Amino acid sequence: MKAFINGQFVRKDAEIIRLEDRGLTFADGLFEVLRTAEGKALFFSEHIERMKNSAAELEIDFPYGFEEVRGFAEELISLNGLDEGELYIELTRGADINREHRFPPKGTPSTFFMLAIPLRKIDRNNWTQGAKVVTFDDLRHRMCIHKTLNLLPNVLAKNHAYKNGGYEALMYRDSPSGRYVTEGGSSSYFFVIDGKVVTPEIDNILPGITRSKVIDIAEKAGYEVTERRVLLDEVLIADEVMIASTVSKVMPVRQVDNRIFKAPGEITTRLMELYEDVFKREING
Ligand code: PDD
Repeated sequence: MKAFINGQFVRKDAEIIRLEDRGLTFADGLFEVLRTAEGKALFFSEHIERMKNSAAELEIDFPYGFEEVRGFAEELISLNGLDEGELYIELTRGADINREHRFPPKGTPSTFFMLAIPLRKIDRNNWTQGAKVVTFDDLRHRMCIHKTLNLLPNVLAKNHAYKNGGYEALMYRDSPSGRYVTEGGSSSYFFVIDGKVVTPEIDNILPGITRSKVIDIAEKAGYEVTERRVLLDEVLIADEVMIASTVSKVMPVRQVDNRIFKAPGEITTRLMELYEDVFKREING
């Protein structure tokens, strides 16, 4: 299997990342996860644009043009003979001889690598019968609008869910007006409350690509969609709960902690179908 790093296709297990890389020493970098199918990286522009915008804001050099990355990505997917899979992209602030917090001197090359790997294993019953999710304190920093490498709290949240028989975490934060939900360890959330589709506002959560597609298809299908602060107490009495992400697509939730939900509910079923249409159009378009 091959990987792509700094302009070259190399053996995936080759020792090619400098030990001083700031991605390793400071988690000073960004990542993206794209779905692949039929030789393509899906929703490519949306993912690369998100990464480029964050890189610009965080002053990390994005070393390639749009079409250049697409070319490298498609070549890597083809070299690995990957059909249904995942394209992982990582961009770090590069290697720094001195482990100094200060940004390295201008001109220090950033590190850019890609992996084209098989799709992670997900129990198919999650889509037909709904997944269990487990609540967990959102321990993350205040820059979650960027897809940064600092994923320890996400790893802890998801592993808390796994230990309790869940597929995903539902993270929450406390505020004077009550405990509100943010997102999953690696996914966005939607709820059906009083017949309306509700999702947490982009207030220190990732602006998910799938999330924005789901908002779009839900609105086009005639549902009222609200982006707002959602209290955990409201979630526990919601009619339907769903997860949305690049790899989970739209997935119904049948259980939040001990509370059971109808899964998939009516609106979830419709949104799952509509998302599949968008997904297929992206593959064929
Ligand atoms: N995770 N929220 C977080 C914290 C995420 O890490 C992700 C994606 C999402 C959903 O975003 P999108 O729809 O753009 O995939 C929300 C990827 C899939 C991962 O870490 O595997």
